[in-house]
Amino acid sequence: MLRVTYLSRESNAFSARALVDLLEHCKLRNPAQGVTGMLMYAKGTFLQTLEGETSMVETLLGKIERDSRHREFKVIKRESATTRLYENWSMGFERLTEATLQEVPALRAFQLEDFNPEFLSIHPTIVENLLERHRSVHWDPLIREIGARDQFINELRRALVNASHRNEQALLLIESVIEASAEGNLTDNHLQLCGRMVETLRKR
Ligand SMILES: Cc1cc2nc3c(=O)[nH]c(=O)nc-3n(C[C@H](O)[C@H](O)[C@H](O)COP(=O)(O)O)c2cc1C
Repeated sequence: MLRVTYLSRESNAFSARALVDLLEHCKLRNPAQGVTGMLMYAKGTFLQTLEGETSMVETLLGKIERDSRHREFKVIKRESATTRLYENWSMGFERLTEATLQEVPALRAFQLEDFNPEFLSIHPTIVENLLERHRSVHWDPLIREIGARDQFINELRRALVNASHRNEQALLLIESVIEASAEGNLTDNHLQLCGRMVETLRKR
């Protein structure tokens, strides 16, 4: 298996709708390729990790690199792997905010303005901290403190992480509907996406 992390910068500002469409595409296509991973976005910069069978990851990476919606594409980490770090996520997603950085002691000195390819490509430790934080729930130190490593806690962590992903996606969708409505572009497609999101939120 191969795990690759890259950085890039959007060519034109991604609207909430464009991010929703991109994530929908990932959720639809990645499972069929056995690809999992996460996508972090802030200040027009993407940080994405893809993992899966080597040829699948290489093919997808080639497509992503050629995608004109972003530029300054740069792989910052490429490693062979025997296990997945993102096994439950077809594509975990997060928009980074100043508030999230404050939650992590190791990231407190890091400014959101520094979330750009130039800075991150020469600060691998910051990237690792960002990825690590994304994978863990925010009260992870508490789990460590009580030394609990059993099945129940793992399930709980997974449920919390999934819930925060769903929240993030629901928020993005609401923003995209507001955006479309303000531009007079609200379509049936938006309503279908809302319907699907309601079903997803009700299911769990
Ligand atoms: C930042 C970014 C991340 C992307 N991540 C994925 C991804 O994880 N999976 C995927 O299938 N396409 C992803 N894409 C879209 C691909 O670049 C490309 O549009 C898509 O794979 C084309 O799919 P198709 O040729 O199979 O129709 C991403 C695009 C961007 C700009």
